[in-house]
Amino acid sequence: MSSNFPRTRPRRLRNSMAIRKMMAENKLSSDDLVYPMFISEKTTVLNPIESMPGIFQVPLNKLNQEIQDISRKGINSVLLFGLPNDKDAMGSGAYAENGVVQQAIRLIKKENPNLYVITDVCLCEYTDHGHCGVIRDMDVVNDETLGLLTKTAISHAISGADMVAPSAMMDGQVSAIREGLDKADFSGVSIMAYSAKYASSFYGPFREAAESAPQFGDRLTYQMNFANGREALREIRMDIEEGADIILIKPALTYLDVISQAREDFNCVIAAYNVSGEYSMVKAAGNNGWIDESKIILEILTSIKRAGADIIISYHAKDVCELLKNSESC
Ligand code: PBG
Repeated sequence: MSSNFPRTRPRRLRNSMAIRKMMAENKLSSDDLVYPMFISEKTTVLNPIESMPGIFQVPLNKLNQEIQDISRKGINSVLLFGLPNDKDAMGSGAYAENGVVQQAIRLIKKENPNLYVITDVCLCEYTDHGHCGVIRDMDVVNDETLGLLTKTAISHAISGADMVAPSAMMDGQVSAIREGLDKADFSGVSIMAYSAKYASSFYGPFREAAESAPQFGDRLTYQMNFANGREALREIRMDIEEGADIILIKPALTYLDVISQAREDFNCVIAAYNVSGEYSMVKAAGNNGWIDESKIILEILTSIKRAGADIIISYHAKDVCELLKNSESC
């Protein structure tokens, strides 16, 4: 199109709220949001997470209350992380019949069966060394870990999870879990694969929240190098072929290019994880009065949609539901 100013004036389509709203290419909706939760077996009170203002470790005895609040706000889906009483080398709390997440799923489904329950499938919150799998010679062994991840996913399904989200970044984790679920008669339980999960410093506050920091070394031998974009597309392709129903890119903001390229290349549902560090930065600046927190949250989450994500996992989800109810943000 040639520039034919003054006949064409883009500002004409910005001159009232009504036309701005009609013109909006992307709209945030509470339908697209997933709220992550930290369920703790180690406490009986809501435990504030210092680096994530507004987010708490939720004990099982306060879970019903929390679920009522979430449902009232309009959230339809949660992603569960667990903090077990005990940790061991094999992360056995992750796949225990009475593990903290297993108990939480059963409680939630009793309180509100319509709340869609997604569970994180990983070992790092349950291992005493803090890594995402079984350790041998100071490194995580891939294939042995797959069996434990599969056991974890099946135990979540037995407890009533609607969807499992493997986040350990082990090769083959999606096909192992799909096969395990199908054999256990859970072909209706979906998989959201953390396909492109980067080794990111943006997870710092989460590791405080979930008490899951590695006790030695780092996660560089399994999570992706943040320098790489094309590799993410290979990971995503593998996970789709292995049977992922949804693929996930994480973190979100410093990887909008990856989301956008995945949107171009794959005709699949894409989720993005607006992670703890992204949340904490906004909260810190907001609490200092340096930014308009509410407006920034809407701008950030809309940018994740614009890049191509269908689903956004965010600690801001509760606030966003409230903001959308009274928003005239156009
Ligand atoms: C567990 C897991 C992590 C996050 C989600 N699942 C941490 C990690 O890999 O160290 C991070 C989420 C966040 O920062 O909000 N494997």
